[in-house]
Amino acid sequence: MSAEPAEATLETVGWVGNASDGFVQLIDQTRLPTEFTRIECHDVSSVWEAIRVLRVRGAPAIGIAAAYGAVLGGQRALNDGADMLAGLRAASAHLRTSRPTAVNLFWALDRIDRTAVDASGLAPGALLDRVLSEAHAIAREDRAMCRSIGRFGADLAPHGAGVLTHCNAGGLATADYGTALAVIFSAHEQGKAVHVYADETRPLLQGARLTAWELQRRGVPVTLICDNMAAQVMKEGKVQLVVVGADRIAANGDTANKIGTYGVALLARAHDIPFYVAAPSSTFDLSLADGSAVPIEQRDPREITAGFGRQTAPEGIEVYNPAFDVTPASLITAIITERGVIHPVNETAIRAKLGT
Ligand code: MRU
Repeated sequence: MSAEPAEATLETVGWVGNASDGFVQLIDQTRLPTEFTRIECHDVSSVWEAIRVLRVRGAPAIGIAAAYGAVLGGQRALNDGADMLAGLRAASAHLRTSRPTAVNLFWALDRIDRTAVDASGLAPGALLDRVLSEAHAIAREDRAMCRSIGRFGADLAPHGAGVLTHCNAGGLATADYGTALAVIFSAHEQGKAVHVYADETRPLLQGARLTAWELQRRGVPVTLICDNMAAQVMKEGKVQLVVVGADRIAANGDTANKIGTYGVALLARAHDIPFYVAAPSSTFDLSLADGSAVPIEQRDPREITAGFGRQTAPEGIEVYNPAFDVTPASLITAIITERGVIHPVNETAIRAKLGT
């Protein structure tokens, strides 16, 4: 087991060593909150597996992991004396099949692919160095975007607010600091007395295992609730705003995020509570007019029938297990990005803020 860092900052996913002999290192999020362990990935398939089984998860973090994972494909080609560009391309193509919904995965691999083509005239070792620099840039830029999201979002959290969040959009889901949790961390650091209600987030419990852990270690007051308690907590007047992350935002603002987010947005509307999405520009997919075409990942039924190793449903039961849902833009009060707050949420305002 690796030592948990004493400082607040988490290096969720990173690269250790040089391009020619280094490796990907990441926090194994399947072991939290009881064990803090970092694992090493020395080949493309172990990065693919880490993304697939959610050792690394959260839209920006899987993009960063995939970018570093592609470097491992190039490294293999370098050491085998094989074609570098082909090695990088094959790795990128394979990593694209790990999970379908978070657009950051495809966005990061597009950057890697473009970099490789642009630098294809270089000697193989220099080309690989260039691709690793691009992966580092993706991670570095994400860190900066998260801090900026925190600064813009903190203004929306009044002193003394109860804040409900769903799933984990924290440091573990990004290079560091998070998106939805950045808003909360930043408000807390400004001295605002925020109190978080964290949905546990069935079936994989990212809220209970990861969000509660992150908030607790940063000293932010947090109360864990089951997903089906959110309505009651709102009715009791404990929640003044909701803030969640995103996996893919269509051009009109429809937002795919962890299954259950849509229900939370409906509850917020029914209780007249503002519902905010916090996401970097890398999470927008302006090629989709609306959320109807977002690919929704379907996961293993055993996550529901035998989560964490104990059978809780009858043998042979039919199960439906979509990992994400789409919240219509009409339910979203504003989207908090690193470039500022988008309000109202519509295509014109989104394109104006993103400069496209
Ligand atoms: O299945 P997961 O754990 O990868 O789902 C993560 C989420 O839904 C997050 O809210 C989203 O990726 C935003 S992360 C900043």
